[in-house]
Amino acid sequence: MRTRLVVGNWKMNGSRAANAALLQAVRASGPWTAEVAVCVPAPYLVETALALQGSMMSWGAQDCSAHEAGAYTGEVAASMLAEFGCRYAIVGHSERRAYHGESDQVVADKAKRALAHGLTPIVCVGETLAQREAGETEAVVKRQMSAVIRTLEHCISQVVVAYEPVWAIGTGRTASPAQAQAVHALLRGQLLAATEKAAQMRLLYGGSVKADNAPALFAEPDIDGGLIGGASLVATEFAAICRAAARP
Ligand code: 13P
Repeated sequence: MRTRLVVGNWKMNGSRAANAALLQAVRASGPWTAEVAVCVPAPYLVETALALQGSMMSWGAQDCSAHEAGAYTGEVAASMLAEFGCRYAIVGHSERRAYHGESDQVVADKAKRALAHGLTPIVCVGETLAQREAGETEAVVKRQMSAVIRTLEHCISQVVVAYEPVWAIGTGRTASPAQAQAVHALLRGQLLAATEKAAQMRLLYGGSVKADNAPALFAEPDIDGGLIGGASLVATEFAAICRAAARP
């Protein structure tokens, strides 16, 4: 049985005071049977690590460099994150693909670099509204996933995958449980062709997950948790989503 995973992606939000209050409140709302993590902006990583010491929650970054080290101004190396005990690194979030021009191959290289340093990459895939309406959902997510499968080869089983339809991110328009399950089943099938461990891999859904829609999404057989944006900034919402991820 796959342990469910709920990850808060704070994106570029927070302040030292707000983070302290949020982490304290979320921490106090545990324990959960699901695994819970938060991916916070880089300047807050160390303070987050300290705030979560001794708790069940783990923490991660929202990105990492595809490069090992060197003249890459502004980038953060996976090795640096690992030095502080970072557990996860989101790679290929649609906001990075869209605003920073990250290609499928760059995303795959980031995942490889993260794994090489003992971080678990959370690889995001997902189609835009135009792609969905053009009937291209399957082709797009398979193309995004296959770059990572090709690059990681047998290590692919060590990643977490997040299906985040771009049209559902921050829009309040969630994919229906059936829509999300259909893509998760497709991705699981693609992963099964690449690794015998695909049945143990965790596939998260992200895109306007809230406390009220989380139970129906998590009830789907191939949805193993969520990647939560806006709702992860509200302690009561995030805590309720973490509770909803308990296995019945
Ligand atoms: P929202 O939950 O705000 O829609 O964001 C989803 C997301 O992009 C998480 O990575």
